[in-house]
Amino acid sequence: MSTIIVGTPVITGLGELFKAHGLSKKTVLLFDEHTRKLFGDELLKRLHHEDFQLKELVVPAREASKSFSVAYKLYGSMIEADVDRSWNLMAVGGGVVGDLGGFIAASYFRGIPVIQLPTTLLAMTDSSIGGKVAINHPLGKNLIGFFHSPELVLIDPSYLASLPLREIYAGMAEVVKYGFIADEPLFSFLDLHFNDITALQEPYLTEAVKKSAFIKDEVVTKDFRETDGLRATLNFGHTFAHGLEKLAEYRHLRHGEAVTIGMVCALFLSHNLGYLDRQSLERGLTLLQKFRFPKGLLKRRFLDIDRDQLLESMFSDKKKLNKKLRFVLLKKIGEAFLLEDNIDDQQVLKAIEEAQAQLSPVNLR
Ligand SMILES: NC(=O)c1ccc[n+]([C@@H]2O[C@H](COP(=O)([O-])OP(=O)(O)OC[C@H]3O[C@@H](n4cnc5c(N)ncnc54)[C@H](O)[C@@H]3O)[C@@H](O)[C@H]2O)c1
Ligand SMILES: [Zn+2]
Repeated sequence: MSTIIVGTPVITGLGELFKAHGLSKKTVLLFDEHTRKLFGDELLKRLHHEDFQLKELVVPAREASKSFSVAYKLYGSMIEADVDRSWNLMAVGGGVVGDLGGFIAASYFRGIPVIQLPTTLLAMTDSSIGGKVAINHPLGKNLIGFFHSPELVLIDPSYLASLPLREIYAGMAEVVKYGFIADEPLFSFLDLHFNDITALQEPYLTEAVKKSAFIKDEVVTKDFRETDGLRATLNFGHTFAHGLEKLAEYRHLRHGEAVTIGMVCALFLSHNLGYLDRQSLERGLTLLQKFRFPKGLLKRRFLDIDRDQLLESMFSDKKKLNKKLRFVLLKKIGEAFLLEDNIDDQQVLKAIEEAQAQLSPVNLR
């Protein structure tokens, strides 16, 4: 379990906080170009003020930065700066910087502590928590990595003010997911305040971020290495989503957009297989109808696609087990389980078809 602190401003008094957690004031700061510009000066100023010794690293703001060649270069800069085991690394950015920073911290000098300072909604509620860190391989995403829990996760929801709306919705998909899989009251809260949260209104935003971060932390603490199926419930909607992302060549669809669509499919599947009653299905669909996609994207990337092709693409997902697709389904709002049985392809295709019919009328812009 990591220490998660949610507040505004979250970067005051870091000297004391680090000390309390046995962390030295020798910190490598990893940014991407955007987060360096947005948050770097203020953070550096505060840390200098508290007598930190700092080494700054900046990578391009793109998924391709999660690569071995980028990591290799950064190791070099750290060695040249005499960074040793007494240092720690703070990753300041979205999931890309968080995963890359965590990967470097886990491997450098056989492991130094990592502190996450997430700056996207997805990173605040998902990727910065749980200790999964990885880089990509040309043959697949996130294939090379570690479990390396952050010592501290420092979350300041006010950082989201500059985040594009598309990224807000993408992160919101994971937030809503927590309501579905683990917390009915959270689900009701999100349903009621969806527009407040996506408009970054307080106190709703902080409440949603806090609840999500703590649910993720609780789930991964109970099942750190994903052995008993609990952590796998975090993949609600994701079997469909991974298929969609692959079809979109991991470029045209944000992960959260694919998850939103995937959750619509998973709701229908849960209902059709007899696990979820009609009323809960309707409640779930009503909330998911509130998501918005960029113009034309939903049509091109989901409504117009061939269902068999999507199914095919889902089968090539790395999470498959002996060619079986694994689905996280709902018993009710707030309770999910991992279905281990084989599901008839026809059921999967039917769920996709129903989702296509469901999403078309309102979500196109
Ligand atoms: N480790 C995990 O458990 C886990 C879980 C989910 C996703 N991930 C990984 O997370 C990555 C995606 O993360 P992401 O969605 O945060 O994307 P990202 O890190 O690429 O950030 C998206 C964009 O927003 C910019 N940005 C960041 N903060 C900003 C701010 N406050 N204002 C304006 N712009 C800002 C970034 O520079 C970038 O251009 C993927 O690589 C995925 O594999 C990891
Ligand atoms: Zn996800």
